[in-house]
Amino acid sequence: MAAGSDGMPAPASLEEVRDGLANAGYLASEAAALVSFLAYKLGKPVLVEGPAGVGKTELAKALSRFRDRPLVRLQCYEGLDEAKALYEWNYRKQLLRIQTEVAGTTWTDVQEDIFSADFLMGRPLLQAISAEEPVVLLIDEIDKADQEFEAMLLEVLSDFQISIPELGVVEAKTHPLVLLTSNNTRELTEALKRRCLYLWLDYPDAERELEIVGLHVPELPETLSRKLIEVVHMVRSLDLKKPPSIAESIDWARALVVLGAADIDKSVFDRTMSIIVKHRSDLDVVAERVGVRLGNGLLGKAESG
Ligand SMILES: Nc1ncnc2c1ncn2[C@@H]1O[C@H](COP(=O)(O)OP(=O)(O)OP(=O)(O)O)[C@@H](O)[C@H]1O
Ligand SMILES: [Mg+2]
Repeated sequence: MAAGSDGMPAPASLEEVRDGLANAGYLASEAAALVSFLAYKLGKPVLVEGPAGVGKTELAKALSRFRDRPLVRLQCYEGLDEAKALYEWNYRKQLLRIQTEVAGTTWTDVQEDIFSADFLMGRPLLQAISAEEPVVLLIDEIDKADQEFEAMLLEVLSDFQISIPELGVVEAKTHPLVLLTSNNTRELTEALKRRCLYLWLDYPDAERELEIVGLHVPELPETLSRKLIEVVHMVRSLDLKKPPSIAESIDWARALVVLGAADIDKSVFDRTMSIIVKHRSDLDVVAERVGVRLGNGLLGKAESG
């Protein structure tokens, strides 16, 4: 569908998207801003992949804040089915309706009634399709749903309509901006990828992460956040089961503020490293490699300048 089909003009430029996202509290990388801009212009869904905690879900939330569009979120999990994603008939209400039936009405009348919109419970995909106002549709962690679900989703995403046998076809009144996220726990189908724009979100470089942490935890003095980012990046460079994400950098920064830490020295690090490292074996590696460097004064002040 063409840009502007939702009644809202698409953003005029890449800069407008980047600045708009920044105002909404999201510091987008060049790639993230570009793909978001193209999503508006081309009306295509975006598939966002990347490690945990790098801002995949937050991008969708920020896009919804940016243009004041409601966010409709579908959280995927194993066994997610159409009843939870598309729509479901409200059986209880239908039953009540049947029980309160007065004598003389035919079964056809009742049937027509209980399979009307009044008895339908719209789930996220139907809500997004039938919304009067354009929405941002976030299909979060699609890799957790089964392949059959993906196939069903493809239909919805290519036609922007949902067929309900008893009611007919519900066509999209407005075109939602669709974001799918995946942590890559399984390979998604080629068919799905083909229909989406693709964005790989990775850990940001030090400067951007510094900005992100500064945005979330402005109380942390800059010298300290520089050192924090330096340590986090060093920890990420080790061969760990689970490297720390942006979410963990932010948590660590908050913890340092709460503890009133004046510096990240070996003792502060030893006490708080479990905020960024969450595997027994990783803790040992990090304590040895990073703890020792902090103890020797090899990290921080000298380099931060
Ligand atoms: N570019 C960014 N600008 C501002 N905040 C960010 C940015 N990237 C990440 N964050 C922050 O990092 C945290 C984690 O982000 P988010 O929950 O979106 O990660 P995710 O990639 O969806 O992780 P998961 O795969 O675990 O669901 C959030 O608090 C978010 O606000
Ligand atoms: Mg997420």
